[in-house]
Amino acid sequence: MISKLQMEKLQTIYAQAHTMTSKGKAASYIPALAEADSTAFSVSMISMDDTIELGNCSETFTLQSVVKVLSFMVATHHHGIEEIMRYVDVEPTGDSFNSIVRLESNKNKPFNPMINAGAITIASLLPGQTMFEKVKSVTSFLEEILNKQVTINNEVYLSEYHSADYNRAIAYILQANGFLKSDVEVALQVYLQLCSISVNTSDLAKIALYLATNGHNSEAKCSKKIINFAKALMMTCGLYNFSGKFAAFVGLPAKSGVSGAIIAVVKDGEIEHLKGPIGIGLFGPAIDDVGNSVAGIDFLEKLSKEYDLFCL
Ligand code: DON
Repeated sequence: MISKLQMEKLQTIYAQAHTMTSKGKAASYIPALAEADSTAFSVSMISMDDTIELGNCSETFTLQSVVKVLSFMVATHHHGIEEIMRYVDVEPTGDSFNSIVRLESNKNKPFNPMINAGAITIASLLPGQTMFEKVKSVTSFLEEILNKQVTINNEVYLSEYHSADYNRAIAYILQANGFLKSDVEVALQVYLQLCSISVNTSDLAKIALYLATNGHNSEAKCSKKIINFAKALMMTCGLYNFSGKFAAFVGLPAKSGVSGAIIAVVKDGEIEHLKGPIGIGLFGPAIDDVGNSVAGIDFLEKLSKEYDLFCL
């Protein structure tokens, strides 16, 4: 039986994290994201046979950079790790997600698939020739994980597309250095369409559970080796230039996006009545200077400490 006191512990962690929303604000560099309610905060946690929901978990938002994990897995499943690593490295940068400064170091190769440079290269490497086919390769994979159809938020996509100067500049440098496998426009549009996929926190938690179980019992095919690679990238590069501190203080593979979305993976833990592998999906559009949900980070930090989830 679930003790009332135990649920109170979780409710307290949630309530404390919720107050942190006042310390951030919704992303403003993409006009459509600036419209989000910055006081919102919701969390879904899913194990193999149970769920915990905190806040309004039916609200939808866009995946943003969380999709970088899925694109990496689809491209790597298609080409193999060795071929992918000819185009993108797996080293953290400590720079902001859209930084351009390192594109003239490391033999011009993007540092990792979790920053924009690496993700735009990965977008160009997705299976298919056209923008439509490349996008479909990732949405189909996601649909198999979620067991439902997904949609792209066209308003967010167009808003992103018309404010993509940095990403366009990155794509041109990548092309000049031979790290794009498609036209600049195709790579850019694929990348931005994927960032604009609509989800809710339950969807995020299911993606995280897929990773926690290494794809066990899912129609979505990806090898354990590639899923482990993806989790290592999340641990080292998933929270941009906060990744080191997140690994040190929270100790879970996680990935954030500027919409305020975060996924976090618990390989084997116990959170109230949830036991074993647990997927966590969070949404709090008030983000900090780095681009991470302030309430989301606060919640995960306290959750990891209280429920002893640190996985290293
Ligand atoms: O590249 C962009 O600007 C966005 N579409 C995705 C950025 C993102 O989520 C980075 N997050 N922290």
